[in-house]
Amino acid sequence: MTPVLSLTRHGEPGGLPLVLLHAFPLDSRMWDEVVALLPELDVITLDAPGFGGSPTPLAVAERLGRPTEPALETYAAAVVDSLRSTGVERAVVAGLSMGGYAALALAERHRSLLAGIGLLDTKASADDDAARANRLRVAEAAAGDAGSEAVAPMVDQVLGETTHAQRPELVERMRALLGEAPPVGIAWAQRAMAVRPDRTAALEDLDVPALVLRGAEDGMSPQSALNAMAEALSDVEVVVVPRSGHMSALEAPDQVADALRALHARCR
Ligand code: MLT
Repeated sequence: MTPVLSLTRHGEPGGLPLVLLHAFPLDSRMWDEVVALLPELDVITLDAPGFGGSPTPLAVAERLGRPTEPALETYAAAVVDSLRSTGVERAVVAGLSMGGYAALALAERHRSLLAGIGLLDTKASADDDAARANRLRVAEAAAGDAGSEAVAPMVDQVLGETTHAQRPELVERMRALLGEAPPVGIAWAQRAMAVRPDRTAALEDLDVPALVLRGAEDGMSPQSALNAMAEALSDVEVVVVPRSGHMSALEAPDQVADALRALHARCR
């Protein structure tokens, strides 16, 4: 059966796959550099509902027979279903930011899938009221006249100060990626992230190897959030990447690939 989400298998089936879940409001192309640095692994990337080559969130929910309200649980169920469609029942799953929220939902609800977990530039806590209100405002704007423009200001937040000062080409690439972000996906994902619960407890009895990683200049996922996840986990490696902001996979692909390779090597 065709996977419900757009899925790309970059390596040869054989070993334990490494599944990579992208950030908001990008798509699986954000992993291109990291994937190219991991030719020895069976890497699988997926696009979230409404992003990249995946169908709309409504079509994904209907195909899975799930409620149509925006929810990261639907994204997680779609990841499991898509992987099963390609014969994958167990994998190391790493997600960056929104991808991390989806990986946390997998840890809570689909634990048997996980041979290991990577939580990059993300947090297990829920939003406060102000963050939730802001998400709903962006969702409304994206669904209305603003479209992709609703996320244009994110270019200032998602990249670190070093990238802004020294890497104009990466700033321009991010601006272009934000300009391509699909309004339906933006609106759905913001509403889904707004209602996500605190999932710290899902990490407390997770008995697989874990990586928590953060760009040292990440202004969106604070060090305290990384510390809270690391404290909850029993078998964890902590990596802080210097001179990187929130988009560590784009700003520091070498360090991210090294950390993911090391995580994969710890997993059975
Ligand atoms: C992301 O990079 O996926 C977003 O910044 C996540 C968020 O808005 O919390």
